[in-house]
Amino acid sequence: MLNIRPFQPCDLKAIIEIEKKTFSIPWSAQSFLDCAQWKEFWIYVAEQNKKIAGYFVAQVIGDEAELHNIAVDPAIQKKGIGQILLDTFLDKAQKEGVQNIFLMVRPSNHAAIHLYQKSGFQLLDKRPRYYEDTHEDALVFCKRLI
Ligand SMILES: CC(C)(COP(=O)(O)OP(=O)(O)OC[C@H]1O[C@@H](n2cnc3c(N)ncnc32)[C@H](O)[C@@H]1OP(=O)(O)O)[C@@H](O)C(=O)NCCC(=O)NCCS
Repeated sequence: MLNIRPFQPCDLKAIIEIEKKTFSIPWSAQSFLDCAQWKEFWIYVAEQNKKIAGYFVAQVIGDEAELHNIAVDPAIQKKGIGQILLDTFLDKAQKEGVQNIFLMVRPSNHAAIHLYQKSGFQLLDKRPRYYEDTHEDALVFCKRLI
């Protein structure tokens, strides 16, 4: 069974392991702790059999939100957990009165782009050579919640 709940500092070790496995530029533990201090940051984890399966980090300011991070343990990807995490965020954002959600993604990240487009995000803009390591553009996606 999958349980989505707010982040706790004891989740950090597992989160950082997933970060390192999933991102070429992983967030540091300190980045998660810094975000966790602010009410405008929402950090939620998906827990399965007492193990961290995935998580998301979003920032909500007024009626706008940005999804900064979402990841699922590679060992259990493609089983619907990413979708459940994203749906949880969208549902919570809607209840909080968020109207527009933004996110950035690498053009090479087909899994994430598929997930976002399937969930109603639309391409809004590009930020040229945004990513430090590969100098890929960042694709900016937006979803309007009504
Ligand atoms: C993006 C990510 C969170 C998706 O998590 P997931 O649990 O594998 O996703 P789901 O199983 O819920 O799948 C959601 C949809 O994406 C599709 N998908 C998942 N992985 C895919 C892949 N590698 N290629 C194409 N589509 C993929 C699924 O098929 C599903 O669509 P469908 O219902 O039409 O078949 C996961 O791939 C991940 O952690 N990636 C590394 C971190 C990352 O890149 N995060 C995004 C940063 S912008």
